Amino acid sequence: MNIRITGTGSSIPVNIESNSNFEKHSFYDTNGNAIDNSNEVIIEKFKAITGIEKRRYINQNQTVIDISIEAAKKAIKDSGVNQEDIDYIIVAHNVGDITSGSNQVDTLPSLASKVKAKLKIKNPDCVAYDILFGCPGWVEGVIQATAFIKSKMAEKCLVLGADTLSRVLDHTDRDSMIYADGAGASMIEVSSQKGGILSHKTVTYTSEGEAEFIFYGPANKGANGTKYIKMHGRKVYEFALNKVPLALQSCLESSGKKIKDVKKIFIHQANLKMDDAIVRRFYKLYKKSMPDDILPMNIQEFGNSSVATVPTLFDLVRKKNYGGHKLEKGDLILFASVGAGMNINAISYII
Ligand SMILES: CC(C)(COP(=O)(O)OP(=O)(O)OC[C@H]1O[C@@H](n2cnc3c(N)ncnc32)[C@H](O)[C@@H]1OP(=O)(O)O)[C@@H](O)C(=O)NCCC(=O)NCCS
Repeated sequence: MNIRITGTGSSIPVNIESNSNFEKHSFYDTNGNAIDNSNEVIIEKFKAITGIEKRRYINQNQTVIDISIEAAKKAIKDSGVNQEDIDYIIVAHNVGDITSGSNQVDTLPSLASKVKAKLKIKNPDCVAYDILFGCPGWVEGVIQATAFIKSKMAEKCLVLGADTLSRVLDHTDRDSMIYADGAGASMIEVSSQKGGILSHKTVTYTSEGEAEFIFYGPANKGANGTKYIKMHGRKVYEFALNKVPLALQSCLESSGKKIKDVKKIFIHQANLKMDDAIVRRFYKLYKKSMPDDILPMNIQEFGNSSVATVPTLFDLVRKKNYGGHKLEKGDLILFASVGAGMNINAISYII
């Protein structure tokens, strides 16, 4: 059975927040002490470690639902599927629906039900639900859709990855400059065309305290009980470098393909240097060097839009050859992601 991605769509918010917009922020360390550097130096260092120059935030009058709808409509149109024939709508996110000026997380009803309602889908057999799986949520949604299709529970699944982390930022935290907003959608279907999903791998690590590496916690200073997205960045970095190459290797081995067959790797856009180092280590497992053109990246201009980074990047490359990256029929690509949980997953896929 060929299970393919037959349509993609993305919503990239219009507000461009460049690094210079953070020059007037007051940054504190985890003990609440002001960071002993000028903002220019902090921002310069930030760019050097992450590669991020800009990020996108949604408008004040929008929420994650608006960008999800835009991405979903584009993916449905691109696939040519009648929306009443969709069996599942799966929305992966981290922080739910949050209005401007609040950071109260709202997940009731699910984002998927809100998306279904706004798309005006009438069919009750179209089942809508959310998954909380950290940044690897979209990849996991695609894996779940694959399982539904293989077991004949479904034929067509719409999978979204969407988040508005701009609504849960502690602006006194330097790491808040990493995050961005975005939404990506994809239609997963049984197809008469060859190719599609060959194999997948998912792991969750919790035994060494990993469940607390990325969390919802109070601000560094002036905390009034409000929680924000927080992380132990260095621990995340080291964890990802050690574990993601192994998940990629396991996924590739079960696909029956060779490392030389891999044409592109669509990896979660967390940190430019970190992603580069992960993929170098993956190739090192096969005693090979990383090919120059293997890694499409858009974190420089879009930041880390969490669960949206992989589907939006894939959409951009698939439709617009983003960054000069071109996909040809028959190419083997890998999707991979890492994030809160700590979860890691990977998919091997033939275009
Ligand atoms: C957060 C992160 C950018 C910090 O980078 P790092 O190299 O691990 O940082 P370290 O804590 O080792 O500190 C190195 C230097 O950078 C500075 N630094 C750390 N975080 C910084 C930030 N966000 N902005 C600017 N400077 C920062 C430190 O002060 C230190 O400066 P020094 O050399 O003058 O002492 C990096 O660890 C990272 O990207 N981790 C993964 C993040 C991620 O993927 N999160 C989401 C997953 S979904």
